[in-house]
Amino acid sequence: MTDQPWWRCAAFYQIYVRSFQDSNGDGIGDLEGIRSRLPYLQALGVDALWLTPFYPSPQVDHGYDVADYTDVDPLFGTLTDFDELVADAHERGIKVTIDIVPNHTSDQHPWFRNAIADASHPDRKRYMFRPGRNGGPPNGWTSAFGGPAWTLDERTGEYYLHFFTREQPDLDWHHASVQESFDEILRFWLDRGVDGFRIDVAHALFKDQDLPEMVEPTPRRPFGDWLSALMQPELHPLYRRWRRIADEYSGDRMYVSEITVENQDTIASYVASDQLHLSFDFTLLHEQWDAAKMRVTIDRVLTTLGVAGAPATWVFENHDVTRLPTRYGGGELGRRRARAVALLLFGLPGAAFAYQGQELGLEEIDVPDDKREDPIFHRTGGARKGRDGCRVPLPWTTEPPTFGFSAGEPWLPMPEDLGLLSVEEQERDPDSTLSLFRSALRLRPRHDRFAWRDSPRGTMIFDRGDLTCLVNVDASELELPDGELLLASEPGITTTLPPNTAAWVRKGTT
Ligand code: NOJ
Ligand code: CA
Repeated sequence: MTDQPWWRCAAFYQIYVRSFQDSNGDGIGDLEGIRSRLPYLQALGVDALWLTPFYPSPQVDHGYDVADYTDVDPLFGTLTDFDELVADAHERGIKVTIDIVPNHTSDQHPWFRNAIADASHPDRKRYMFRPGRNGGPPNGWTSAFGGPAWTLDERTGEYYLHFFTREQPDLDWHHASVQESFDEILRFWLDRGVDGFRIDVAHALFKDQDLPEMVEPTPRRPFGDWLSALMQPELHPLYRRWRRIADEYSGDRMYVSEITVENQDTIASYVASDQLHLSFDFTLLHEQWDAAKMRVTIDRVLTTLGVAGAPATWVFENHDVTRLPTRYGGGELGRRRARAVALLLFGLPGAAFAYQGQELGLEEIDVPDDKREDPIFHRTGGARKGRDGCRVPLPWTTEPPTFGFSAGEPWLPMPEDLGLLSVEEQERDPDSTLSLFRSALRLRPRHDRFAWRDSPRGTMIFDRGDLTCLVNVDASELELPDGELLLASEPGITTTLPPNTAAWVRKGTT
């Protein structure tokens, strides 16, 4: 270990609370379920958890529609359950970070209910109500989930803005009461001992008040660089203010932001030492299995964030994208590539995020249309399948039909063969993806040293101090350098790496 703040090199594990572990048989994962699985998380070797939203919510966007920022939805437990989870995690040396959703509330939040019930209510100013234009919405902005970003408030003839579903009205961050309320919300959770926050759509909070048109690229890109009316300069003083709040507390409390843009200079401008600590790089979420492209991305991130003095924050999977083995071709090929990525992810310097089930090598699951829950599927009339396929509950045991997830019916169907990838199955196999993750998390370097080595086309090789990480993406066999083979992504590797594999070699000894 080094004496740098913990978050600079932490391995985070993202828990999609609905799908991790159900404790009471209602088919939905909950806080008590997470607490019961802390021994698993400790054995896995992660430093920190990120919990997706568990606040009271109508669950239109599965918790990203918050009706009360300072409580727990009875679906997931109670504040006491939360406190116990934090205390137990801390006892096991695991930090707990939570999702904060400041861009929008639920339409069932008391602020929005007040705003709709009475146009003169002070809470109305917390939202983006604007007059229409030429008999339609104020402008042509579109929702990230399909359709217009404005909905008519019939009683007043004004429209309100929602960059996601109409049940997720955007807050007006130019209004002081919004800023003040969130100061209190952050303190509420910091007082309860959370170690940090993942900030949902952190680049979107302020909108250009002139509401300029933006042209949505077709097809819609996964990156939001074109959203010029977002990313307003007011974000910087806001995040300085948030940083000061975190710094009032001991223990290096931190923020990691979801800024879905490609431009690393934009991202770097938010991770200054007096603003946010970390920001995801999402390029690798959408990049193909291509050594040259991945190397350029890694370079770009390390260089740009390095200048800002911030560590990189690597992520290959989360609850919004198709599972990695499926993205990389599926089947045996996808599986091998996803395993090689484990050594890349945990070999790179900086913070690393893994999404629940990534350690099991889970593939995207083809959820039948009539069981799909994601508002993206429903708002686009099925044109976009949405994100349910990566949100299917985790298989813990080999026992069908719910594989230890729940005593009831899971909120999304679990395929019959899911037990083959269960924790129980993989725990007894030293060559399983789970075993590989455990080893990688135990052996991963935690310092900043990083240097590329020249390497044949189709490969990536870099040194991390005395450890060399080699990834053979699609070259012919790659010879391993002298040294001790610490870890390989497939069994049977000794002197050369076949394509779609990776290895860590320690210099000096043989
Ligand atoms: C990003 C979250 O990751 C996603 O799941 C959610 O639907 C949107 N933000 C809206 O909050
Ligand atoms: Ca439950």
